[in-house]
Amino acid sequence: MKKYNEKLLLLENKQLNHDNYRLVLQAERDLSEIFPGQFVHIKIEKAGVLLRRPFSVFDVNKEKRTISLLIKIFGKGSKVLTTCKPGEKIDVIYPLGKGFTMPDKKDKILLVGGGVGVAPLFFMAKMSGIYSKNVSVIIGAKNQGEHISVEDYKLFGNFYFATEDGSVGTKGFVTDVPEYIDHLSEYNKIYTCGPSPMMKAIVKEALKRDIFCEASLESKMACGIGICLCCVEKTTTGNRCVCTEGPVFNAKELTW
Ligand code: FES
Repeated sequence: MKKYNEKLLLLENKQLNHDNYRLVLQAERDLSEIFPGQFVHIKIEKAGVLLRRPFSVFDVNKEKRTISLLIKIFGKGSKVLTTCKPGEKIDVIYPLGKGFTMPDKKDKILLVGGGVGVAPLFFMAKMSGIYSKNVSVIIGAKNQGEHISVEDYKLFGNFYFATEDGSVGTKGFVTDVPEYIDHLSEYNKIYTCGPSPMMKAIVKEALKRDIFCEASLESKMACGIGICLCCVEKTTTGNRCVCTEGPVFNAKELTW
């Protein structure tokens, strides 16, 4: 798949909660080659950091030619990125990585995300809604204040959420949500992204029930193009680069 290195126009920078922002970037070209689960690699020149930073694609608006990203402040690079103003140009390589396998019309789909791992699941929910009328989303967070863009998910399917402190939705983890506990076997495709313990639990359950499942892995990345080997994941078919052969892997490939 072709990749582009371009300066995209920052149209919007919106703070969602204390350390999460949504950035909307506009390209000059058609964006129909970007799929859910793929990511972009951004050079944050103002931060004075040499390496690019990877960010999952949160949404794509093909008509407006925009890519939305969720940015959580982790370090200097992401912090500086959240201070960029509309009108600035951002150096982006896109689209990178292998995204989710798109479902069929007859599929019943469950998307499960937690923390900042919700980012690729929004675009996936939107695209899945085009393929299937049967989409459910379960999102988990520490508390109500940590939930991001909750209202947007409701546009594309049945929505359930969990918070560790019980401030909204089911008290506990995504795996405590009744829809997950009681109806998991009714789904025939599960897609997940988020903290490792959460994804491991979901992958284990999916394999046990022989349900198709894909997980989007988070990994430290440097080059983003399969050269530096700093993102290698051990799989059932050998060591694979998360940046080029992932970040999405089938549950059967994971050695968790
Ligand atoms: S980030 Fe360099 S090989 Fe994946």
